[in-house]
Amino acid sequence: MDICDQILVGKGPLLLKVKELIRQVASSDLNVIICGESGVGKELVAHALHLSSDRKGKPFVKVNCAAIPGELLESELFGYERGAFTGADKTKMGKFEIAHNGTILLDEIGDMPLSLQSKMLQVLQDFQFSRLGSKNDVKVDCWVLAATNHDLEQDAREGLFREDLYYRLNIIRIFIPPLRERPEDIDMLIDYFAGRFAQKIEKPLLIFSDGVRDFFRQYSWPGNVRELKNMVERLMLLGDWETAKEELLARETRQTNGHELTTQPPPPTPGEPSKAARSKKNFPPLKEVKKKAIMEAEGKLISEVLAETDWNRRRAAEILQISYKALLYKIKELNLHPED
Ligand SMILES: Nc1ncnc2c1ncn2[C@@H]1O[C@H](COP(=O)(O)OP(=O)(O)OP(=O)(O)O)[C@@H](O)[C@H]1O
Ligand SMILES: [Mg+2]
Repeated sequence: MDICDQILVGKGPLLLKVKELIRQVASSDLNVIICGESGVGKELVAHALHLSSDRKGKPFVKVNCAAIPGELLESELFGYERGAFTGADKTKMGKFEIAHNGTILLDEIGDMPLSLQSKMLQVLQDFQFSRLGSKNDVKVDCWVLAATNHDLEQDAREGLFREDLYYRLNIIRIFIPPLRERPEDIDMLIDYFAGRFAQKIEKPLLIFSDGVRDFFRQYSWPGNVRELKNMVERLMLLGDWETAKEELLARETRQTNGHELTTQPPPPTPGEPSKAARSKKNFPPLKEVKKKAIMEAEGKLISEVLAETDWNRRRAAEILQISYKALLYKIKELNLHPED
């Protein structure tokens, strides 16, 4: 049993493939992007990569690009000198420097602001940068891993993520399938989480019945392994299987209904007014409103910039800080014309 098997519990064919890929790329130093839905184990895979590599005795540093506001993220990554900005009362090393000789995980990379993405691209070329407020270059040696639950390829097409950065990061792509596609792992995960939790709360191990296990194998786990872990721990603590089961079923129904709404609303039963008709107002789904509002705002800004540049698309793309290709895609998607 190697480090990969110790860290990543499960023996289903899909997870075995992930583990095989980890072993193959460990120590390669090639940039890796780890993708998959929330809770599938992206951070754990990053850790397994680090511990399977020659860098295992060195730092493993994680930066959550979604949790830190844009302007702070740059100083968090690259550090700053005393006096670089208001409040910088002492010099601080950035995460890249801390990760020297080790591994850095850029978690939720899809949320990194575009302005920082261009700096990131430069750093990935020569691993050289300067702390904010400093003129001296720092050079580091670290393995860069990135994780995301976004579809970055789609984001790149839409100009939300730099295409060149995407290609630089995406040398090796490790996709972790959602838990519902690998029910073979569920039994082992139940036993693993139950065992660990029993130790933690110093209680005897709860035996999960075949009925519960069958249910777990068929449930869709929208929150993936994290949801399974939480459920195992809750059952060990409260033992309220019937209530828990009802909650899981209700959650699954809500999910399915939500999904159906976005594709095609179910027809109302004859004689019975539909749910929407029973409500006094006909509210549109939030997702639709959000998409419409974004498209309107984007359309307005892009039209203004295009008018300002006399429809010089290259210049407009520069101003908007998106790629030329992404701008062409937007112009087509938003159906913009020179006379608009
Ligand atoms: N194969 C596995 N074996 C053991 N534990 C696992 C496995 N996969 C995930 N976990 C556990 O499930 C939880 C969620 O995993 P992790 O934080 O790595 O997911 P994530 O994909 O990074 O989620 P998010 O997108 O929300 O950040 C953690 O407690 C992790 O330890
Ligand atoms: Mg994570």
